[in-house]
Amino acid sequence: MRALTPEPGDVDLAERYACPSDRVWLRAQMVAGLDGAAQRDGRSGGLGNAADRHLFQLTRGLADVVIVGASTVRVEGYGPVEPAEEWGDVRAGRPPVPPLAVVSRSLDFDFDAPLFTEAEARTIVLTPASADPARLAAARERADVIVAGTDSLDFTAAVEQLVARGHRRLLCEGGPTVLGQVVAAGLLDELCLTLSPLLIGGAPTRILDGPPVPVPPDLTLAHALREDDYLFLRYARKQ
Ligand SMILES: NC(=O)c1ccc[n+]([C@@H]2O[C@H](COP(=O)([O-])OP(=O)(O)OC[C@H]3O[C@@H](n4cnc5c(N)ncnc54)[C@H](OP(=O)(O)O)[C@@H]3O)[C@@H](O)[C@H]2O)c1
Repeated sequence: MRALTPEPGDVDLAERYACPSDRVWLRAQMVAGLDGAAQRDGRSGGLGNAADRHLFQLTRGLADVVIVGASTVRVEGYGPVEPAEEWGDVRAGRPPVPPLAVVSRSLDFDFDAPLFTEAEARTIVLTPASADPARLAAARERADVIVAGTDSLDFTAAVEQLVARGHRRLLCEGGPTVLGQVVAAGLLDELCLTLSPLLIGGAPTRILDGPPVPVPPDLTLAHALREDDYLFLRYARKQ
């Protein structure tokens, strides 16, 4: 057994969470209770603490684009990404904010909501070709639309298109349905997992919800940080 941190003391989080600059990098940022629950009272917010919220903001600041599922957008009431004081100078020389890229088949959104009307970086919608044509037309008026796959979003093709737009540091904020497919497609390079000292029980999902992952990614523990009774684990793909 080893101590969690070989060198105790404060850490520079922006340095610790910097993405590799020489390649495309897809990070997921998730929180779970000790029993693996990914929701408390139907949302993720009740699982985290102030340090988790800080990290949530920081990883947004480090990203070129933030991928998120439509259910999370609806349940958590997502608006566009806004600059945060946690960012410090991490966006120096880059656009002020990363866009959200929302995964949806139904395109069941209020396109007059701030997510679409007040986004400093125009919101991107990731959807398959089978999306309803009228909703697709409405989406195109208020968002950049990426169509990939026929009946179901092809995550590999969608990520390729995001990368082609210059988004090389991709952050996935879930939810579990989306993250399950990102991992199944072999796209995940890093999982940042906040482990919350809560036992939730009941029927929440785990942080991946979907069919088995055909080839589990080969991850190694890049670091483990602690704040109060919370652990902040960073697992990265073995190089
Ligand atoms: N613990 C955590 O870190 C964490 C993080 C995020 C969210 N959450 C929680 O997890 C819950 C939401 O997660 P979730 O797993 O239910 O949903 P989700 O992954 O946020 O979103 C699922 C939605 O994404 C769209 N979608 C997913 N796969 C698709 C595909 N292949 N093609 C086209 N569209 C696709 C569909 O949208 P349409 O319905 O529009 O077609 C689907 O309903 C909430 O309770 C939230 O609070 C927890």
